[in-house]
Amino acid sequence: MFIAFEGIEGSGKSTQSRLLAKTLKNRGFEVVYSREPGGCALGDDLRKILLDSKNKDLDQRSELFMYLAARAQHVKDKIMPAVRDNKIIIVDRFNDSTIAYQGYGRGLDTDFVYQLCDFACYGLWPDITIVLDMPVEIGIKRARLRNEFYKKNNMDESRFEQEELKFHERVREGYLDLQKRYNERIVIIDATGSVEEIGSSILSVLKERLGLEV
Ligand code: TYD
Repeated sequence: MFIAFEGIEGSGKSTQSRLLAKTLKNRGFEVVYSREPGGCALGDDLRKILLDSKNKDLDQRSELFMYLAARAQHVKDKIMPAVRDNKIIIVDRFNDSTIAYQGYGRGLDTDFVYQLCDFACYGLWPDITIVLDMPVEIGIKRARLRNEFYKKNNMDESRFEQEELKFHERVREGYLDLQKRYNERIVIIDATGSVEEIGSSILSVLKERLGLEV
């Protein structure tokens, strides 16, 4: 079972995806947890370049191909083996991030980006993609607070938080649009509630859609 988490900055994906991994492990499931960009050595190296605010002038197409390069390696090294071994694989961000950010956000042709994603992931799409949705103002505020903390600890992952609000609005709209187009795979969950409320909505969706009894 392959589960992906998606959403704008500060929507709580990392919290919820980790919480789900922990809950499932406690119930005895074999779980592999990963994130993008990252999840493998090449992905981690590319992540540093992609998220460093020093790289302001990164060309849109270079950016796109770095995310895709990270994805192909991640799928080959980590996701495919987990699926083959019948484990549950949970990933914080996957193809829909590329379509939402590089397609809807940056303005690259979304259908073309979709096809490139399909190629990069070897056609291996998640069984379910959970989009945590919330107004952009709330998410960005949360992400900025987090990044101030990171900066104090000499970690800079703020390149995307510095984009204008309109960019993030386009990303959010992108996710909502993708859900309409691929509603058999993508589920939107309201991410403005408490961690517990959102966590239990996610478990209900997994039960309903995939028959996962937790
Ligand atoms: P991440 O730390 O995952 O952000 P967050 O903590 O908000 O989840 O950083 C990933 C950043 O990279 C995020 O700003 C979204 C962006 N991104 C893309 O633009 N395209 C992609 O394909 C992926 C995977 C991420």
